[in-house]
Amino acid sequence: MISDIRKLVGNDRKKLRKPIVLLTLDTLFNMLSYGMMYAVLLDLINDNLTYSKIRTYSIILIIAFCARAFINSKGYTGIQEQGARAVENMRITLGDHVRNINLGFFNKNSIGNLSNILTNDLQDFEKIITHNTSDLIKTVLLSTYLLIITFFIDTQLGLIQLAAILIAVPIILYGGKKVACIGKHKKVVMNEVISRMVEYLSGIQVFKSHNLVGEKFERLEKSFRDLKKESIRTEVSIVPYVLAFQVIVDISFPILLLIATTKFGASVIDKKEFLTFIIINIALTNVLRAFAAQYGEFRYLKLATKKLIETYNKKEMPYRYEDVEFNNYNIEFDNVSFEYEEGENTINHLNFKAKEGTMTALIGPSGSGKTTVTSLIARFWDVDNGMIKIGGKNIKDIKPDTLLNHVSMVFQDVYLLHDTIYNNIRLGKQDATREEVIRAAKIANCHEFIDSLSNKYDTIVGEGGSTLSGGEKQRISIARAILKDAPIILLDEATASLDADNELEIRKSIKKLTANKTVIVIAHRLNTIKDADQIIVLNEGTVEEKGKHSVLMKNKKRYYNMYNEMENAKKWAI
Ligand SMILES: Nc1ncnc2c1ncn2[C@@H]1O[C@H](COP(=O)(O)OP(=O)(O)OP(=O)(O)O)[C@@H](O)[C@H]1O
Ligand SMILES: [Mg+2]
Repeated sequence: MISDIRKLVGNDRKKLRKPIVLLTLDTLFNMLSYGMMYAVLLDLINDNLTYSKIRTYSIILIIAFCARAFINSKGYTGIQEQGARAVENMRITLGDHVRNINLGFFNKNSIGNLSNILTNDLQDFEKIITHNTSDLIKTVLLSTYLLIITFFIDTQLGLIQLAAILIAVPIILYGGKKVACIGKHKKVVMNEVISRMVEYLSGIQVFKSHNLVGEKFERLEKSFRDLKKESIRTEVSIVPYVLAFQVIVDISFPILLLIATTKFGASVIDKKEFLTFIIINIALTNVLRAFAAQYGEFRYLKLATKKLIETYNKKEMPYRYEDVEFNNYNIEFDNVSFEYEEGENTINHLNFKAKEGTMTALIGPSGSGKTTVTSLIARFWDVDNGMIKIGGKNIKDIKPDTLLNHVSMVFQDVYLLHDTIYNNIRLGKQDATREEVIRAAKIANCHEFIDSLSNKYDTIVGEGGSTLSGGEKQRISIARAILKDAPIILLDEATASLDADNELEIRKSIKKLTANKTVIVIAHRLNTIKDADQIIVLNEGTVEEKGKHSVLMKNKKRYYNMYNEMENAKKWAI
């Protein structure tokens, strides 16, 4: 686990050393006060406590106090600052890392789990680094020091004290392990709560429209109840072990005192040693009691570290070239196979070529793999077999970020950030000027409606874009893509029926967006793709038919049937 922690903290480890050393020094000064107490008591017993001695002890204590105040303030602020910085860096590194892992990670790790890792687990980790580590170091140092002195006074007393520690400490360590097991379950419940919250909040419109608010809230409420139960179970489960630990420590105190008194009576130890032992015994009991309280926090460290390192160790998608020059933007699927889950065969030996500057339309039944094809081109996933090439280069060799710079995607579900319309369009090109943004909006036929809003381009849209209509959101996403001006466009046509005006506007803006680009369009209405350079009919992840509209109509296969069905439906509608 220590090596995992070192890996997670990375280079910030070195910066944490100084404050930890300072806090350790503080322990040494703390020991000095016990020394002074001992000296005063000894002088009292020997009846030679003079005024000048008291003055000397006081001066030493004042100096020690000032030194402690200085060291503590430096050490504590240092560890807080460096600890927070180390965790901030971890958060950035992990966030960056997660971005470059293939999307399968997000499938298997629900949003709840991932949010939990990036918030709670990191928070636990931060608390332990900034608070508990130095406390633990102090405890271990102080008890070792006190134990060694006991051994110097009397070996038998030292051995009994050591035996008490050796019995008590494993009990609490074992308890910690048990609690960590229960804590694991609490984490699962916690993930469930976050997932349910996300589900409830993002789906509230749908739930309301189907009058499911009560039922969904029941699921959310149940997850809250489960969390409460698990939290209590986790907190309560450590109690018996802490109690057992404290009983052993507390019982050993009077037993040791009794033995020491007997030894003093038998003159095995002298007055000075007897006195020293009493002070040490009181101090050690206090230190060990504090350890039991601190250990409670450490039980989370292992769990948090495990989760964090698992995420950290997930392989990023490999690539060979940091940056790449494309000679052309032909897209080629060369015997590509891919499956989301083993044995599913979502894409089966798929072969096709989309020439630069042409439009390829993908059609086929639901579940035939159309969206998957576009996700594979954007390298959201890596193919299992075969190769996807852009400009003759295997996309597995291209850094995912670089690849995405050359690809624009316009999806059915448009996601807008909770930000201004201006910033939402500017996502396409971070350094765009206001003029460029407005120009893109004009080309995408959305300038007019934006201009009619009270704050125009500075109008804030809700998270997910909930304050705009479907057509408006789609046009904003087209403006975003126009601004990006990438040579490859992946387009998932809207299936939701838009009103005629909106549809016409969108069609016009898509035409402008796709001019002279390599376009892969998933078409749901066949009349929109009659002019495509190539139409690919997908079925079960492989090409069933391929060609221009006129050719496919002559083939009289699936495309012909689909087209006729659509034409008939139109007649019925009329
Ligand atoms: N993220 C995923 N994880 C696991 N399986 C998936 C995932 N996405 C899609 N699938 C499965 O892969 C198959 C192909 O899905 P895909 O979304 O590519 O179909 P599609 O042709 O786009 O369908 P539609 O016309 O309904 O949009 C389906 O059986 C689907 O259930
Ligand atoms: Mg789809």
